[in-house]
Amino acid sequence: MGPVTPSFVPGDVRVRAPATSANLGPGFDALGLALALYDYASARVTEGGVVVEVSGEGAGDLPLDASHLVVRAMFAAFDELGGRPPGLAVSCVNRIPQARGLGSSSAAIVSGIQLARGLVVDGQRRMDDAAALRLAASIEGHPDNVAPCLLGGFTIAWTEESGAIAVTRRPDDAVQPTVFVPADRGFTAEARAALPAAVPHADAALSAGRAALLVHAITEEPSLLLSATEDRLHQAYRAPGMPETFSLVTALRAAGVAAVVSGAGPSVLALSPVPEDFAPGMGWVEQRLGVDVTGARVEGVHWDTPSGPLLPQVR
Ligand code: HSE
Repeated sequence: MGPVTPSFVPGDVRVRAPATSANLGPGFDALGLALALYDYASARVTEGGVVVEVSGEGAGDLPLDASHLVVRAMFAAFDELGGRPPGLAVSCVNRIPQARGLGSSSAAIVSGIQLARGLVVDGQRRMDDAAALRLAASIEGHPDNVAPCLLGGFTIAWTEESGAIAVTRRPDDAVQPTVFVPADRGFTAEARAALPAAVPHADAALSAGRAALLVHAITEEPSLLLSATEDRLHQAYRAPGMPETFSLVTALRAAGVAAVVSGAGPSVLALSPVPEDFAPGMGWVEQRLGVDVTGARVEGVHWDTPSGPLLPQVR
């Protein structure tokens, strides 16, 4: 027997979902970090139809109907929660740059799942965080962005037969993320297609060791981050498809900064402070961001929707 048909709460439910950076160098498809840059969404149950409003990033490009990713994730969650409402009105204010390797699709998926849980009476109990993560990862295809988006902090995610699982840790206060975002978009499917079917054993061994070290470095000993973020599994293979990204990572690392490709790129993430006199070159928007430690939460979350530039230049 499936779950009992749900009742829905009246009025708006709101969620704030953080940007995320996946891989962090050697932790391909496993490690992720939640960043204090957010997409905001609200939803309420209506008598029929699906209406979506979008402002900020993606406005004018994203669909405004049931094919919007937030709504698709809501429907997937409602189906697990026992049933869909007659209609939905959804509003999104997006601040996370899209298709840049900063987890915008994971933020949409996690937002949708959290909104659905919030709109169903007792939804947080009917679908706990573990089930929400499994659903989010099954929609996204891998867990390394959805885990930090849902849980906050630094996450280690993996997949078992039953689905995705993750643990979260608080990074050391000295971990100071900076993102460098280019104007051009990147496409995860293309970046994944650039990867070889097999890698040399020595490269796999180095990356496994560095990923293990990274868990220690990011939570306890940030001075080890430069060594700990070394990777031989994916970044060099993807370099021909994003040469400017690879050049920036190389230049930052040569300057002693623990820099990596953010997710599948093309943004760059630095985990240690960037020297004041470092110049990333033309075309990069640089922003220092805090680490988000709460993840995408609905209840008791009050926030002010920000105004001003979507991604202000900080230096
Ligand atoms: N681990 C993923 C990749 C993150 O690098 O392809 C991007 O979705």
